[in-house]
Parts: sequence; structure tokens; C-alpha cells
Amino acid sequence: MIVIDKKRFDELFRIIEGLHKYSVLSWQVNRKKELYRLIIKEATDLMNTKMGSLMLYNKDKDRLEIVAARGLSRKVIETTSLKPGEGVAGLVFKRRHSIFCEDIEKDPRFKKKNRVKYYSKSFVSVPLIAGDKAIGVLNVNNKRSRKPFKIEEMKVLRVIADEAAMTIQNQSLLKRLEDAYIDTIQTLAKLLDERIPATRGHSWRVANLTMRLGRRLGIGGKDLIILRDAALIHDIGKIGIPDRILLKPAKLNSKERKAVEKHPSVGMDVIGRAEFFNRFVPIVAFHHEWYNGKGYPMGLSGNRIPLGARIVAVCDAWDAMVSKRPYRDAMKRKDAVKELLDGSGTQFDPFIVKEFLKMIK
Ligand SMILES: [Fe+2]
Repeated sequence: MIVIDKKRFDELFRIIEGLHKYSVLSWQVNRKKELYRLIIKEATDLMNTKMGSLMLYNKDKDRLEIVAARGLSRKVIETTSLKPGEGVAGLVFKRRHSIFCEDIEKDPRFKKKNRVKYYSKSFVSVPLIAGDKAIGVLNVNNKRSRKPFKIEEMKVLRVIADEAAMTIQNQSLLKRLEDAYIDTIQTLAKLLDERIPATRGHSWRVANLTMRLGRRLGIGGKDLIILRDAALIHDIGKIGIPDRILLKPAKLNSKERKAVEKHPSVGMDVIGRAEFFNRFVPIVAFHHEWYNGKGYPMGLSGNRIPLGARIVAVCDAWDAMVSKRPYRDAMKRKDAVKELLDGSGTQFDPFIVKEFLKMIK
């Protein structure tokens, strides 16, 4: 039997709290493509050009690929891929210094076979350097005025490239922090699951169903992630229930049931310790409320029960029914469907039951 380690919980809470501010931040710049588009827009606007591209180095493929572009055909974007040292951008990347060309046709540095098809006339190509690593290349071509670029303009592009490299690097750092946050929430869920071997995997399955159902009901983006994470730890209050009750391989008597029914309130206390967890309160606290107001702990009814809690209630009940328990076999799917339908409008939100059943059909 695995006994829950309170110290471990505290440690995880601290980590999550610390990661909080970063994960919130990263939501703002999480959309990589938007960031790349912004960089190329800024660069081409400032340089007054109609064509440009941002290429990043793909380590796995050992190639530079276009991640955002302006004025280039889709075909060029999709098919351009250069090895370090290949083409102008490849050279810029490998040698880590900018290349400035007034007219490629007249420039002896570029033989025809070594040219990338969209390069024409004047261009500036600068490396993106983050720390001591080259991470990509920023290219701008053909000024709107058709005049060649000036040295000063190349310096401006250098500044944009440095800023872009820094932003891209920060973004990947934030992504790593966010991954660490997700890992920590998942560890918390795993600790819970391991404590109750009879329901192993329950949190994960509920989180999975909840996410699918939430998406189906039109929840997306950040809200969907909060919903999933809340579903993962919805039973966190069970850490306060003694093992003899929690692990009892038989049906509970009424006193024991009362102790178990405290887990939403205990959960609320537990997550109240960390401000970051406030977002999970609606689900942790109210996933055992009934649609008709006869649930616990508050006796909320109808739409007063937070939507996330109504969704988790259905997914939680479903997984509990179709999983095997020490004192009973898993219920057959058709019987579990019947149970859900019987509880529709009393225990569960009828609309959510309807959508859930359509989803698992
Ligand atoms: Fe629960």
C-alpha cells in the first residue's frame, strides 16, 4: 500500500505555485506561429520591403525551414529547406554573419546553382543568434522602392533579428516551464491514483473524457486546459480520508460514506493553500452536486453548479460505473448508459448527459 506523503504534496504545491506566473505568461505568447508572423511583419515593415522570410533551424532534420514569410508563394514556403552552408541563408546560418547584397545577378559571390529561387535583386540576410547558438536566419528581399538596401538598414535588421532570437528563446523557455507545470499536476494526480489501487487510472480517464466532452461543448484554449487539469485532481480532497475507509474492499456504511462525502470540502481547503489552484475550485468543490439540488456539499442545483463540475460529474460517474471495483464487477456499457439516463435531470445535467452519450456512441 502506498501511503500518501504530505511532504511530497507540499513540495508539489510549492512547485506549481512557483510555476504559475510563468505559465500564465506563456499563454500570451504561446502561439508560436503568431510570434513568427509578428517578427516577419515587423522586419518587412521596418525595412519597407515586400518580401521576407524567417527560417529556423530544425535540429532533427539538420535543416533550415521557413516558419513565417511574407510575399512568398505557399509552394516556396513548403519546399524551401536548406542545409547549414547551403544557399545564402544556409551560409549566413553557418558562418553566423550577415550577408548584404545589392544585386544578386551582378554579385560574384553567388553562383546561379547556389541560389534559392525567391532571392532576387537586393536582399539582406541576418543570422538569429540566441546566447551562443545560431537558431535561424531572417531574410528580407526586394525593397518596395526597388532601391537597394543601405548599410544602416542592415543594422536595423540586425537589431530586429537579435530581438527576435531572444523572444524565440524566451518562448521555448516558457514552454519548458509550462511542461514542468503540467508534469507536476500529473504527478499529483498519479499520487492520488496510486493511493487507491482499486481506482487506478481513474483521474486520467476522467480528465480525458472531460476534455473530449468540454471540447464538444465549445470550451477551448486556456479554459479547456484548466478543465482538464481540474478533472485530473478533482478528488484531491481524498487525501484527507483515512486509509481504512478509502481502501475498504467493501461497501461503506453510512458513517464511512459521510467521511467520504467530505472530500469536496477537504479538497477546497487543500487547494485553498495555493492561489494558483483557485481556478480548480469550481470542479474540486462541486463535482458531487446534483442537478436537482440533492447533492453535496452545498446542495447547489441546475446552472448554479459550475459547468465544469457538471461535466466532470457525468464523466466521473461513467468511469466509476464501467470500471471494476474490489467489491463489484465493472458495469456493462448498456447498463451504465441506462444509469446515466436515469440520473439525467436528477443527478446530472440532461444536456450534458445527452452530449456525453453522443460522444461515446
Ligand atoms: Fe469525487
